[in-house]
Amino acid sequence: MEHIIIANWKSNPDSVIKARGVFSGILKLNKNLKNKKIVICPPYPYLFLGDKLKSPKIFLGAQNTFIDTEGSFTGEVKAEMLKSMNVKYVIVGHSERRKIGDSDEYISKQITTILKNKLIPILCVGEIKRDHDGHYLSFVKNQIVNDLSGINKNSIKNIIIAYEPVWAIGKGAVREATGEEFTEMKIYIRKVLSDLYGANIAKSVKIFYGGSVKKDNAKIFIDSGADGLLIGRDSLDVKKIEAIIKSF
Ligand code: PGA
Repeated sequence: MEHIIIANWKSNPDSVIKARGVFSGILKLNKNLKNKKIVICPPYPYLFLGDKLKSPKIFLGAQNTFIDTEGSFTGEVKAEMLKSMNVKYVIVGHSERRKIGDSDEYISKQITTILKNKLIPILCVGEIKRDHDGHYLSFVKNQIVNDLSGINKNSIKNIIIAYEPVWAIGKGAVREATGEEFTEMKIYIRKVLSDLYGANIAKSVKIFYGGSVKKDNAKIFIDSGADGLLIGRDSLDVKKIEAIIKSF
């Protein structure tokens, strides 16, 4: 089975020179990508680095998009523009964006826009904290149900869902998630999708893991059923991505 690695650079690196360095370093990993694909998601200003990318193994992704609305909106970037820049995937619903105001309603419109442009949405979901009563499960369920409202049976199989527990993301992570925690959530997400779209369609949706993925735990999540990985910090260091790729 083929796994996809999403390199989510977030708002890094701080110069185009550094961005060029990481980008070309990742391209050189092509030879190590036997059953794997990489999607590089740089900030908007660095997307041009991949506008001519043609590898069947390495693709360009964006970290955000504006929604489908007529008119001009200062500061926004439309999905059509991303498509014309060779972008194939778009991340939406990342916890860092939800925190600064992206609502479920907005995310749902983003997904509709992305699909309309024949791009692949990577919908990030995940609870802020764990509890012993299972509230974290209903938290994730609500995100999925609301974010996918308006997405029909035919489109859902083109969506990737990334489970990213907020407590396991970034430098401030409380701790790393375990393989069992991912497996439990993957089963639960499938159940939520199955209730919405039926069991067969639910099975076809790819479910990824993200949050402090490193060379030492990447294989654990893959072995626990992740169809792919979403990598933040370590995706900015070519040696670290290479080590992750070689680890499973
Ligand atoms: P991290 O970020 O790998 O730095 O924890 C993951 C993410 O936020 O997607």
